[in-house]
Amino acid sequence: MRVLSGIQPTGRPHWGNWFGAIQQYIALQDEDEAYYFVANLHALNTIRDGTQLYQNSIDTTLDMLALGLDPEKATLFLQSDVPEVSELCWILMSGTPMGLLERCVSYKDKIAKGLPVVTGLFTYPVLQAADILAYDSNIVPVGADQKQHIEVCRDIAGAFNHQYGEVFVLPESRVLDSSAKVPGTDGEKMSKSYGNFIEVFEAEKSARKKVMRIATDSRPMEDPKDPETDHLYRLFSLFADDDAKKEMADMYRKGGFGYGDVKKALAQAAEDYFAQPRERRRELESNPDHVLEILHEGAKKARAKASEVLRRAQEACGLKAPK
Ligand code: ADP
Ligand code: TRP
Repeated sequence: MRVLSGIQPTGRPHWGNWFGAIQQYIALQDEDEAYYFVANLHALNTIRDGTQLYQNSIDTTLDMLALGLDPEKATLFLQSDVPEVSELCWILMSGTPMGLLERCVSYKDKIAKGLPVVTGLFTYPVLQAADILAYDSNIVPVGADQKQHIEVCRDIAGAFNHQYGEVFVLPESRVLDSSAKVPGTDGEKMSKSYGNFIEVFEAEKSARKKVMRIATDSRPMEDPKDPETDHLYRLFSLFADDDAKKEMADMYRKGGFGYGDVKKALAQAAEDYFAQPRERRRELESNPDHVLEILHEGAKKARAKASEVLRRAQEACGLKAPK
């Protein structure tokens, strides 16, 4: 089974991204053949500064490697290093009805938010379909918001196969377990767009400051409290081991503690939890050639597969002599 997913290089990962997505992607490298790429062609729709887009792409690569993506197990590459995908995208676009894309929620949302309407935003799901189909991917792990795009991909691939014969493998989405909806510093879902996030690789001092400012209620200290409904406890429980969690939960139920102490414990637990990835990131940063080499090797492997699939599609639809 081949697993594939793309990560947009649009910002640095926060705690929510780690527990809700990246951790689960990385775990899959031990189960299946995994392909992960930095979706820089998709990001081109929103980042219009070349220096920034390139830097973001390298940062995302470093983040994934530091967080445990192992290039010996998984294939990691930049989307734009596989030009076959863009060519396949055009082939798919020719058979994609406008209506299919007009129904896409993510496009409608972006329009509603007043983002400039570029054609790339509209045709985005076709590029995503090409990403998936180019590698004969079987499983595509994504957040719930992306599930519709995998359905679109299946529609596009199904229509092509119906017209030209069995060329593409139909993928299945695997919606990530988001039961661990990570709360942000205001108690709402942590998100880049709400300004309530703490980054995985944020400077320790700044992360600590944000933790100390996490919103709490004003019940008296001595009152017993239910840990399960408290966002500070929920955050702490993501980082702590079972014993520490139990001790903290008991303290909540007894009452007579201050939120300040919980925050200090949370800041420390998060620092310990991310200490190794931080160290690995520093090492990777000091060896940029090694990182470029990983991307180069990843792209070589990805291109070999994508050119095989592109060839199949070209032969089927008459762009190359049939076999
Ligand atoms: P943001 O809301 O910060 O823009 P993205 O939409 O880029 O985050 O999310 C990338 C991935 O991280 C998605 O798969 C999403 O489900 C996951 N994710 C983001 N925020 C959280 C959160 N607070 N809790 C759990 N998962 C999250
Ligand atoms: N659209 C995805 C996102 O915004 C990123 C992405 C691009 C992707 N191509 C993909 C995800 C292919 C899965 C498969 O998060």
